[in-house]
Amino acid sequence: MIGTGHTVYVGARDERLGEKAAAELGGRPLPLDVTDDDSVSAAAERVRAEAGRLDVLVNNAGVIGLGNDAHDATAEQVRMTYETNVFGAIRVTHSFLPLLEASEAPVIVNVSSSLGSLGIAGDPEQFTSILPVYYSALAYNSSKAALNMVTAQYARTHPRMRINAVDPGHTATDLNGHTGPQTVAEGADIIVRMALMDTNGPTGGFFGNSGPVPW
Ligand SMILES: NC(=O)c1ccc[n+]([C@@H]2O[C@H](COP(=O)([O-])OP(=O)(O)OC[C@H]3O[C@@H](n4cnc5c(N)ncnc54)[C@H](OP(=O)(O)O)[C@@H]3O)[C@@H](O)[C@H]2O)c1
Repeated sequence: MIGTGHTVYVGARDERLGEKAAAELGGRPLPLDVTDDDSVSAAAERVRAEAGRLDVLVNNAGVIGLGNDAHDATAEQVRMTYETNVFGAIRVTHSFLPLLEASEAPVIVNVSSSLGSLGIAGDPEQFTSILPVYYSALAYNSSKAALNMVTAQYARTHPRMRINAVDPGHTATDLNGHTGPQTVAEGADIIVRMALMDTNGPTGGFFGNSGPVPW
Protein backbone atom coordinates (compact mmCIF):
# COMPACT_ATOMS: atom_id res chain seq x y z
CA MET A 1 0.00 0.00 0.00
CA ILE A 2 2.66 2.43 1.14
CA GLY A 3 5.03 2.63 -1.82
CA THR A 4 2.19 2.08 -4.30
CA GLY A 5 1.09 5.71 -4.41
CA HIS A 6 -1.62 5.37 -1.77
CA THR A 7 -2.00 7.72 1.17
CA VAL A 8 -2.39 5.22 4.01
CA TYR A 9 -4.25 5.97 7.23
CA VAL A 10 -3.15 3.68 10.05
CA GLY A 11 -6.14 3.20 12.36
CA ALA A 12 -5.26 2.42 15.98
CA ARG A 13 -7.09 2.74 19.28
CA ASP A 14 -3.88 3.52 21.18
CA GLU A 15 -2.81 6.94 19.86
CA ARG A 16 0.83 6.58 20.90
CA LEU A 17 1.20 3.16 19.26
CA GLY A 18 -0.70 4.37 16.21
CA GLU A 19 1.63 7.34 15.77
CA LYS A 20 4.67 5.09 16.18
CA ALA A 21 3.38 2.55 13.63
CA ALA A 22 2.39 5.26 11.15
CA ALA A 23 5.81 6.93 11.45
CA GLU A 24 7.57 3.60 10.85
CA LEU A 25 5.38 2.79 7.85
CA GLY A 26 5.20 6.27 6.31
CA GLY A 27 1.43 6.49 6.84
CA ARG A 28 -0.85 8.89 8.69
CA PRO A 29 -2.04 7.95 12.19
CA LEU A 30 -5.81 7.77 12.58
CA PRO A 31 -7.27 7.35 16.09
CA LEU A 32 -9.83 4.56 15.75
CA ASP A 33 -11.59 2.28 18.21
CA VAL A 34 -13.85 0.07 16.11
CA THR A 35 -16.12 -0.62 19.10
CA ASP A 36 -16.89 3.08 19.61
CA ASP A 37 -19.43 4.87 17.37
CA ASP A 38 -18.02 8.34 18.09
CA SER A 39 -14.43 7.25 17.41
CA VAL A 40 -15.39 5.64 14.08
CA SER A 41 -17.48 8.65 13.01
CA ALA A 42 -14.64 11.03 13.87
CA ALA A 43 -12.18 8.91 11.88
CA ALA A 44 -14.46 8.91 8.82
CA GLU A 45 -14.98 12.67 9.11
CA ARG A 46 -11.22 13.25 9.29
CA VAL A 47 -10.60 11.19 6.11
CA ARG A 48 -13.50 12.97 4.37
CA ALA A 49 -12.09 16.38 5.28
CA GLU A 50 -8.51 15.53 4.27
CA ALA A 51 -8.96 13.19 1.31
CA GLY A 52 -12.60 13.39 0.21
CA ARG A 53 -12.73 9.68 -0.66
CA LEU A 54 -11.44 6.26 0.32
CA ASP A 55 -10.21 3.77 -2.28
CA VAL A 56 -9.43 0.83 0.02
CA LEU A 57 -10.79 -0.11 3.43
CA VAL A 58 -9.02 -2.94 5.30
CA ASN A 59 -11.00 -4.18 8.30
CA ASN A 60 -8.14 -5.80 10.18
CA ALA A 61 -8.90 -5.19 13.88
CA GLY A 62 -9.60 -8.47 15.63
CA VAL A 63 -9.45 -10.12 19.03
CA ILE A 64 -9.37 -13.74 20.20
CA GLY A 65 -11.38 -12.68 23.24
CA LEU A 66 -13.04 -14.85 25.86
CA GLY A 67 -15.85 -17.36 25.40
CA ASN A 68 -13.82 -19.76 23.30
CA ASP A 69 -14.36 -22.90 25.37
CA ALA A 70 -17.77 -24.25 24.39
CA HIS A 71 -18.03 -25.97 27.80
CA ASP A 72 -18.56 -22.71 29.65
CA ALA A 73 -18.70 -19.81 27.17
CA THR A 74 -21.25 -17.17 28.15
CA ALA A 75 -23.29 -15.05 25.77
CA GLU A 76 -21.70 -11.90 27.26
CA GLN A 77 -18.17 -13.17 26.56
CA VAL A 78 -19.07 -14.04 22.98
CA ARG A 79 -20.82 -10.69 22.51
CA MET A 80 -17.60 -8.88 23.49
CA THR A 81 -15.64 -10.74 20.81
CA TYR A 82 -18.34 -9.98 18.23
CA GLU A 83 -18.21 -6.31 19.27
CA THR A 84 -14.78 -6.05 17.63
CA ASN A 85 -14.68 -8.84 15.03
CA VAL A 86 -18.20 -8.46 13.62
CA PHE A 87 -19.90 -5.24 14.75
CA GLY A 88 -16.58 -3.36 14.53
CA ALA A 89 -16.22 -4.24 10.85
CA ILE A 90 -19.87 -3.29 10.22
CA ARG A 91 -19.54 -0.04 12.19
CA VAL A 92 -16.43 1.00 10.23
CA THR A 93 -17.83 -0.10 6.86
CA HIS A 94 -21.09 1.77 7.49
CA SER A 95 -19.26 5.00 8.36
CA PHE A 96 -16.81 4.81 5.46
CA LEU A 97 -19.28 3.67 2.75
CA PRO A 98 -19.98 7.23 1.52
CA LEU A 99 -16.22 7.78 1.11
CA LEU A 100 -15.83 4.47 -0.71
CA GLU A 101 -18.73 5.40 -3.00
CA ALA A 102 -16.76 8.54 -3.92
CA SER A 103 -13.90 6.35 -5.21
CA GLU A 104 -13.61 5.23 -8.85
CA ALA A 105 -12.53 1.70 -7.83
CA PRO A 106 -13.56 0.98 -4.24
CA VAL A 107 -12.20 -2.06 -2.42
CA ILE A 108 -12.95 -3.56 0.99
CA VAL A 109 -10.81 -6.32 2.49
CA ASN A 110 -12.20 -8.02 5.59
CA VAL A 111 -9.50 -9.88 7.48
CA SER A 112 -11.19 -13.14 8.43
CA SER A 113 -9.72 -16.57 9.20
CA SER A 114 -9.99 -20.10 7.88
CA LEU A 115 -11.09 -20.89 11.46
CA GLY A 116 -14.34 -19.14 10.47
CA SER A 117 -14.92 -21.50 7.54
CA LEU A 118 -18.03 -23.67 8.00
CA GLY A 119 -16.71 -25.97 5.24
CA ILE A 120 -13.46 -26.60 7.14
CA ALA A 121 -15.22 -26.89 10.52
CA GLY A 122 -17.53 -29.49 9.00
CA ASP A 123 -14.70 -31.59 7.57
CA PRO A 124 -11.26 -30.43 8.83
CA GLU A 125 -9.41 -33.45 7.42
CA GLN A 126 -10.43 -32.60 3.86
CA PHE A 127 -8.79 -29.19 4.08
CA THR A 128 -5.47 -29.86 5.83
CA SER A 129 -3.61 -27.98 3.08
CA ILE A 130 -5.44 -24.78 4.07
CA LEU A 131 -5.60 -25.29 7.84
CA PRO A 132 -3.09 -27.94 9.04
CA VAL A 133 -4.42 -27.85 12.63
CA TYR A 134 -8.07 -27.15 13.45
CA TYR A 135 -8.51 -25.07 16.65
CA SER A 136 -11.91 -25.08 18.30
CA ALA A 137 -12.86 -21.62 19.60
CA LEU A 138 -16.55 -20.84 19.99
CA ALA A 139 -16.42 -17.04 20.09
CA TYR A 140 -13.52 -16.38 17.70
CA ASN A 141 -14.38 -18.96 15.03
CA SER A 142 -18.09 -18.08 14.96
CA SER A 143 -17.26 -14.35 14.81
CA LYS A 144 -15.17 -14.95 11.69
CA ALA A 145 -17.96 -17.07 10.17
CA ALA A 146 -20.29 -14.12 10.79
CA LEU A 147 -17.77 -11.73 9.25
CA ASN A 148 -17.67 -13.94 6.16
CA MET A 149 -21.42 -13.66 5.69
CA VAL A 150 -21.27 -9.92 6.38
CA THR A 151 -18.69 -9.74 3.57
CA ALA A 152 -20.93 -11.71 1.20
CA GLN A 153 -23.91 -9.47 1.94
CA TYR A 154 -22.00 -6.21 1.42
CA ALA A 155 -20.59 -7.62 -1.83
CA ARG A 156 -24.04 -8.50 -3.16
CA THR A 157 -25.40 -5.09 -2.20
CA HIS A 158 -22.48 -3.08 -3.66
CA PRO A 159 -21.60 -4.69 -7.01
CA ARG A 160 -19.45 -1.69 -8.04
CA MET A 161 -17.09 -2.44 -5.15
CA ARG A 162 -14.60 -5.35 -4.80
CA ILE A 163 -15.43 -6.73 -1.35
CA ASN A 164 -13.72 -9.90 -0.14
CA ALA A 165 -12.80 -11.79 3.00
CA VAL A 166 -9.23 -13.03 3.39
CA ASP A 167 -7.44 -15.60 5.52
CA PRO A 168 -3.85 -14.54 6.30
CA GLY A 169 -3.01 -18.01 7.62
CA HIS A 170 -1.41 -18.86 10.96
CA THR A 171 0.96 -15.95 11.54
CA ALA A 172 3.23 -15.02 14.46
CA THR A 173 1.47 -12.02 16.07
CA ASP A 174 0.27 -10.84 19.49
CA LEU A 175 -3.07 -12.57 18.78
CA ASN A 176 -1.59 -16.03 19.26
CA GLY A 177 1.43 -15.29 21.44
CA HIS A 178 3.64 -15.35 18.33
CA THR A 179 3.09 -19.08 17.79
CA GLY A 180 2.18 -18.93 14.09
CA PRO A 181 4.79 -20.28 11.63
CA GLN A 182 4.37 -17.42 9.12
CA THR A 183 5.99 -13.99 9.34
CA VAL A 184 3.76 -10.91 9.38
CA ALA A 185 4.91 -10.10 5.82
CA GLU A 186 3.81 -13.58 4.67
CA GLY A 187 0.49 -13.27 6.46
CA ALA A 188 -0.11 -9.80 5.04
CA ASP A 189 0.54 -10.93 1.46
CA ILE A 190 -3.07 -11.87 0.63
CA ILE A 191 -4.38 -8.73 2.36
CA VAL A 192 -2.15 -6.51 0.23
CA ARG A 193 -2.91 -8.44 -2.99
CA MET A 194 -6.67 -8.11 -2.48
CA ALA A 195 -6.32 -4.47 -1.43
CA LEU A 196 -4.45 -3.59 -4.63
CA MET A 197 -6.55 -5.52 -7.15
CA ASP A 198 -8.13 -3.67 -10.03
CA THR A 199 -11.77 -3.55 -11.12
CA ASN A 200 -11.43 -6.91 -12.92
CA GLY A 201 -10.69 -8.66 -9.63
CA PRO A 202 -13.15 -10.92 -7.81
CA THR A 203 -15.77 -9.78 -5.32
CA GLY A 204 -17.81 -11.66 -2.74
CA GLY A 205 -15.11 -14.28 -2.23
CA PHE A 206 -12.94 -15.74 0.53
CA PHE A 207 -9.25 -16.08 -0.30
CA GLY A 208 -6.03 -17.23 1.33
CA ASN A 209 -2.44 -17.13 0.13
CA SER A 210 -2.97 -20.37 -1.85
CA GLY A 211 -6.31 -19.47 -3.42
CA PRO A 212 -10.00 -19.68 -2.52
CA VAL A 213 -10.94 -20.83 0.99
CA PRO A 214 -14.21 -22.77 1.43
CA TRP A 215 -16.92 -20.68 3.07
N1 LIG B 1 -2.32 -14.15 13.55
C1 LIG B 1 -2.97 -15.11 12.91
O1 LIG B 1 -2.53 -16.28 12.86
C2 LIG B 1 -4.27 -14.80 12.22
C3 LIG B 1 -4.84 -15.78 11.41
C4 LIG B 1 -6.04 -15.52 10.76
C5 LIG B 1 -6.63 -14.29 10.91
N2 LIG B 1 -6.06 -13.33 11.70
C6 LIG B 1 -6.73 -12.02 11.81
O2 LIG B 1 -5.82 -11.02 11.43
C7 LIG B 1 -6.23 -9.77 12.00
C8 LIG B 1 -5.03 -9.12 12.62
O3 LIG B 1 -4.65 -9.88 13.76
P1 LIG B 1 -3.14 -10.12 14.21
O4 LIG B 1 -2.87 -11.55 14.07
O5 LIG B 1 -2.23 -9.13 13.56
O6 LIG B 1 -3.27 -9.87 15.77
P2 LIG B 1 -2.79 -8.64 16.67
O7 LIG B 1 -1.33 -8.46 16.56
O8 LIG B 1 -3.38 -8.90 18.02
O9 LIG B 1 -3.49 -7.42 15.97
C9 LIG B 1 -4.85 -7.13 16.16
C10 LIG B 1 -4.97 -5.63 16.02
O10 LIG B 1 -6.34 -5.28 16.20
C11 LIG B 1 -6.36 -4.12 16.99
N3 LIG B 1 -7.62 -3.95 17.67
C12 LIG B 1 -8.23 -4.79 18.53
N4 LIG B 1 -9.36 -4.25 19.00
C13 LIG B 1 -9.47 -3.04 18.40
C14 LIG B 1 -10.42 -1.98 18.48
N5 LIG B 1 -11.49 -2.06 19.28
N6 LIG B 1 -10.22 -0.88 17.72
C15 LIG B 1 -9.13 -0.78 16.93
N7 LIG B 1 -8.19 -1.72 16.82
C16 LIG B 1 -8.36 -2.84 17.56
C17 LIG B 1 -5.25 -4.35 18.00
O11 LIG B 1 -4.92 -3.13 18.60
P3 LIG B 1 -4.17 -3.05 20.02
O12 LIG B 1 -2.71 -3.10 19.70
O13 LIG B 1 -4.62 -1.75 20.58
O14 LIG B 1 -4.63 -4.24 20.84
C18 LIG B 1 -4.16 -4.89 17.11
O15 LIG B 1 -3.42 -3.87 16.49
C19 LIG B 1 -7.34 -10.10 13.00
O16 LIG B 1 -8.60 -9.80 12.42
C20 LIG B 1 -7.18 -11.61 13.19
O17 LIG B 1 -8.39 -12.22 13.58
C21 LIG B 1 -4.89 -13.55 12.35
